[in-house]
Amino acid sequence: MMKYLILQYPGHNRVYYNVAAQLAVSELSIAAKRLSVKCQKIDFEDVCGVRYITITLDDELSTEDIAILSRLSFVFAIFNQFGLHADDGLAPIPMANFQYIDSKISTIQKYAGKTNELFTKMMVNVALLASDFTYDDTISLLDPVAGRGTTLNEATVYGFNAFGVEIENKSVHENQIFFKKYLQNERYKFTADKRMVHGKSKKDAIYMHEFEYANSKEAFKNKEDRKQLGLINGNSQDADKYFKKNSINLIVGDLPYGIAHGNTGANKATTGTRDPSELIASCLPAWKAVLKKGGTIVLAWNSFVAPKQKLADIFKEHGLKVLTKAPYDGFEHMVDKSIKRDIIVAKKL
Ligand SMILES: C[S@@+](CC[C@H](N)C(=O)[O-])C[C@H]1O[C@@H](n2cnc3c(N)ncnc32)[C@H](O)[C@@H]1O
Repeated sequence: MMKYLILQYPGHNRVYYNVAAQLAVSELSIAAKRLSVKCQKIDFEDVCGVRYITITLDDELSTEDIAILSRLSFVFAIFNQFGLHADDGLAPIPMANFQYIDSKISTIQKYAGKTNELFTKMMVNVALLASDFTYDDTISLLDPVAGRGTTLNEATVYGFNAFGVEIENKSVHENQIFFKKYLQNERYKFTADKRMVHGKSKKDAIYMHEFEYANSKEAFKNKEDRKQLGLINGNSQDADKYFKKNSINLIVGDLPYGIAHGNTGANKATTGTRDPSELIASCLPAWKAVLKKGGTIVLAWNSFVAPKQKLADIFKEHGLKVLTKAPYDGFEHMVDKSIKRDIIVAKKL
């Protein structure tokens, strides 16, 4: 038997830190299913006044297991416990260095309507861990409601190809300027292009702002080693017109919350209703078409506005498998008095 103690990331946001322990247990439980060793128990333990999340396993973690745990959104440090009690001694475990580009890309921007970065990273992890893919596969992630790109930034940190569809022109414009500046300032080799992805004439054309970049000059020389970032100012219900069928591994997004949140429009639903189920129903045929078999969809929404069962029924009607049992039922939490946030996880079998 082996026991590991995990120190939770202090985070940038106190409100989020307070709910994060519950989310951490759910995220860790999903990750535990992908470890090479059997998980016996996940718990909390107080050591000298500091709270740790503990995971007890049948055997030692492998290097691949440590790489999975190192990516979890709440993991700040991992320790191995000597003996029967934490007092007997804790040895720090070297964490895996997984960042393709620095995670500061996700934290430097502040704007109204931005989705918390740690929460976003958690959704990306849940999507990957619930899918048939691994972090070592070449992953293409689509955020179909991309806003100013928090999910896309988290995906680039992981070295995924990242694509976003966003209906508001201003958000896409700002996201595209930010990403270009970031690559320039950090001295990455890149190309930037604007390609028509849909439409017959200039008037109804939909374009993708397309970047290709690499984190070393060597990698940039080889086109296959470059990473892609694509931003589309369009309607997500047409995603299958912008992307090839069966080309996306993961779809991850934070849906409009159906409440006003500053003047960015970031929380306005575009379907003329506060209810995200209408947006999901209109977009699912396109999302399903572009998603690969074994791929997953993870969406966050305000469960005050629509119950989970209603959303789950829509996914089922479209032939997707909704993961509803524990630990997938452990993500609901209060953000403020008008938002109770939850995530729904669905898979294309
Ligand atoms: C909660 S915000 C996403 C915020 C984003 N995660 C961030 O941190 O910047 C939801 C976004 O969905 C967009 N949206 C709503 N309906 C859409 C549609 N049909 N197609 C594309 N985007 C849509 C809204 O304009 C809004 O920017």
